[in-house]
Amino acid sequence: MNRKMMIAGNWKMNGLSAEGIGLAKEIAAKVKQKKRTCEFVVCPPFTLLNLVKKALRGSKIALGAQDCHFAEKGAHTGDISPVMLRDLGCEYVILGHSERRADHKESSALVAKKVEAAHNCWLKTIVCVGETLEQRESGKTIEVCSRQVRESLPEGSRAANVVVAYEPVWAIGTGKTPTPQEVEDVHAAIRQVLAKKIGKSEAAKMRILYGGSVKPANAKEMLTLEDVDGALIGGASLKADDFIAISDNAGC
Ligand code: 13P
Repeated sequence: MNRKMMIAGNWKMNGLSAEGIGLAKEIAAKVKQKKRTCEFVVCPPFTLLNLVKKALRGSKIALGAQDCHFAEKGAHTGDISPVMLRDLGCEYVILGHSERRADHKESSALVAKKVEAAHNCWLKTIVCVGETLEQRESGKTIEVCSRQVRESLPEGSRAANVVVAYEPVWAIGTGKTPTPQEVEDVHAAIRQVLAKKIGKSEAAKMRILYGGSVKPANAKEMLTLEDVDGALIGGASLKADDFIAISDNAGC
């Protein structure tokens, strides 16, 4: 199956205006020199979306946000709706990241509502799943990830509007990673769950990214596996050189 690799940067809660613009421009300049066999996405914090959109003008890099509410508008102080993201020029939104599941007690049911709302206004979603260290150590990795995939994807999820990201919680920002074989096993299990949920042919087309301490040094072994279709990169996406080196090592 020929799935287009995706290299996505999740900037998390990092960057003020000048830095964000500078980083976006640097990434855009470097991506321009590539053959563009991969899809690039950057997901800055809400505060930088507009500035980064302008900095990326003329590039093929897509803009993504890191969360959204499920309502289109209304009395939700401090929240941002999917329609607003669309209005700002976002193409993607990350939903169900483990930091939101932990910090904001987001359940998979809530994530599914957000995913559905995002799809309803033509945003594509990057839906994150992953086990904690405790769950891994008690042998529950595949069970936990499978359940999160089943419960976080609403009706209408298709390869054209959803990218799944497998991010083991214990690998995020720690420098630790699962072995390539462990990653491949989880990705293959996720694809099986997807096949049951959305049908075999859609599941075969849907991209599954790996995220969690992806660096230039481990990108090749993690991102050239059969069922791994790219990376969702945190820390290393804040340095243009590292972000691009990861994509180079992934064959982009
Ligand atoms: P790190 O690459 O910093 O481990 O973060 C991964 C992540 O959470 C991306 O969403």
